[in-house]
Amino acid sequence: MPSGTLEAFFFSTCSVQSLSDEESSSLRERLLKSERDNRYLRKDSDDRKVMEEVFDQATLLAIKELMSKGELSELNGVVSAGKEARVYYGVAGKGVPRAVKIYMVASADFKKRLVYIAGDRRFGKIPGSSTEIIKLWVRKEFKNLQLAHSSGVRVPRPYSFLRNVIVMEYIGEPPAPAPTMAEAEVDLSDYKWVFSSISKLYKSAELVHADLSEYNIFKWGDERVVFDMGSAVTKSHPEAATFLRRDVSNMVRFFKKRGIFEKEAEDWLGEITK
Ligand SMILES: Nc1ncnc2c1ncn2[C@@H]1O[C@H](COP(=O)(O)OP(=O)(O)O)[C@@H](O)[C@H]1O
Ligand SMILES: [Mg+2]
Repeated sequence: MPSGTLEAFFFSTCSVQSLSDEESSSLRERLLKSERDNRYLRKDSDDRKVMEEVFDQATLLAIKELMSKGELSELNGVVSAGKEARVYYGVAGKGVPRAVKIYMVASADFKKRLVYIAGDRRFGKIPGSSTEIIKLWVRKEFKNLQLAHSSGVRVPRPYSFLRNVIVMEYIGEPPAPAPTMAEAEVDLSDYKWVFSSISKLYKSAELVHADLSEYNIFKWGDERVVFDMGSAVTKSHPEAATFLRRDVSNMVRFFKKRGIFEKEAEDWLGEITK
């Protein structure tokens, strides 16, 4: 195992049960440096406080456990630094890229996400603490990815999850993510693909994405990939029809803006739900 890499660090210095203050600050320093070196760095990512919020003890342990299970062998720089989740470029085995999405336990305002959890019959009582809500959210995002994937909807392939961390297929040429439809040229075949994916998601996976827009669909060469599935709810969720209408309207609006139009949102809705 190469020395100087994160996995070497983990295997050489950590016990499974806990990390000393020294170990966790050393790991944070390495990640901070890798974020600084990364040209995809966003403006707040050299903020030490953010690093401490992302990589708290529980998160460091989750990463370590994923490494010891063989789900990850490296964790490199940040690909995307959102307010509530950050996505890292990770590696599994000998050089297979993975996207590692880490939800920030300390800073997340998860209350607004409750509407996407309550009413989804797959999950029981809503937990009281924000840590537990985030764990549930991650489990939900992972299950949604699995369900979509096994129903033949193109999403990043999910590999594993633990606490606030999800490991999935990397879409793009690391360390850059693939462009989203918002950043790419689109044509009639993309339009057809999007509505057929919404339909497949609804009919086969029995899911509604609930946060669908041009920002949550990759266009990568000939591939299109729907992602960011945490909000997705089952068809039986009381708000499913509202969410579906919003998803469809967002996409109709986006393609109209790009000069591509076949039918209105209401007509698509009729077709998808018939
Ligand atoms: N599987 C992936 N492969 C490569 N990059 C990804 C992947 N998933 C997310 N990203 C990058 O992270 C960004 C945010 O991911 P997303 O899941 O939409 O998180 P958020 O919940 O913060 O919107 C994406 O726009 C993309 O740049
Ligand atoms: Mg997103």
